Amino acid sequence: MTKQRAKMNRTITLTDSEREILRQQLLRMPIDPGIDLLNRIICADLFEAVHCIPRESVDLLFVDPPYNLNKKFHNNSFTKMELDQYTQWMDSWFKLLLPTLKPKASVYVCGDWRSSPAIYEVLSSYLYVHNRITWEREKGRGSSKNWKNASEDIWFATVSRDYYFNVEAVKLKRRVIAPYRDADGQPKDWNESREGNFRLTYPSNLWTDLTVPFWSMPENTDHPTQKPEKLLAKIILASSRPQDVVFDPFLGSGTTAVVAKKLGRNFYGIELEEEYCCLAAKRLLMAEQDPSIQGYSDGVFWERNTFREQR
Ligand SMILES: C[S@@+](CC[C@H](N)C(=O)[O-])C[C@H]1O[C@@H](n2cnc3c(N)ncnc32)[C@H](O)[C@@H]1O
Repeated sequence: MTKQRAKMNRTITLTDSEREILRQQLLRMPIDPGIDLLNRIICADLFEAVHCIPRESVDLLFVDPPYNLNKKFHNNSFTKMELDQYTQWMDSWFKLLLPTLKPKASVYVCGDWRSSPAIYEVLSSYLYVHNRITWEREKGRGSSKNWKNASEDIWFATVSRDYYFNVEAVKLKRRVIAPYRDADGQPKDWNESREGNFRLTYPSNLWTDLTVPFWSMPENTDHPTQKPEKLLAKIILASSRPQDVVFDPFLGSGTTAVVAKKLGRNFYGIELEEEYCCLAAKRLLMAEQDPSIQGYSDGVFWERNTFREQR
């Protein structure tokens, strides 16, 4: 049954005829070895499909697996398990991804506080772990018996100690709270403009400028754990160059592929659920018409609630 949606609801949906067209663009197993997988969506189980990704071809791996929670992903469900079991499950697919990485590749893995110990254990046994980013995920109901969970983690690791990282590309434009001036009355480390007073700052590992996609945002889909495009833009800009290859083996609604395309990178993407693959394919087509990324303009990331000031 089609859901009734509010008038201002911009959620991306699929009609039956779109689904029929888009599903034909997907690659499925078995994949002919001669087929170029770059910038195509592979609708398959990553355990099978990962062997088709060329060896040492990936500059940036972004992994957003099911967290250690009970969660329904369209026709499939993920069931919460003991931490040891989750760690083993993660290790079982993570080691299959390693041969796809270039010697200087970067890797980011997402999780919540429950999954993070497993991520650290697996990552640190194969790679150099550099950081854990925590981002504010302000969505969902509170709990009467616990602190509301409003954060998630993204672990950052690399194959080698020699890796690419472009901090200049991910500066944050923040409103100035204390507008100090020097002896000549000039702004100290900030700029005065008609839109207001702003300062460009280097990003930390605490991200509070993200909004989880919701119904009035043009990037929103019905995927239950869709990541914000702005989050992917930070990672892709910091850890890859134009034309580089970004690989997402749990592609979901396609956020990584869409942002890679908008920022002039190439991608490999694998997703089990056909419905999500079709949503990803639709978003890729939409990106051709509108390559903007909400919260990123003029080459900088804007803090939340500065929509009017962004051109
Ligand atoms: C946390 S979601 C990723 C969401 C994605 N980052 C986005 O922005 O939409 C995890 C995804 O992994 C998919 N998945 C689970 N097991 C898989 C497997 N074995 N192979 C490929 N995809 C799988 C699920 O269907 C789900 O869409």
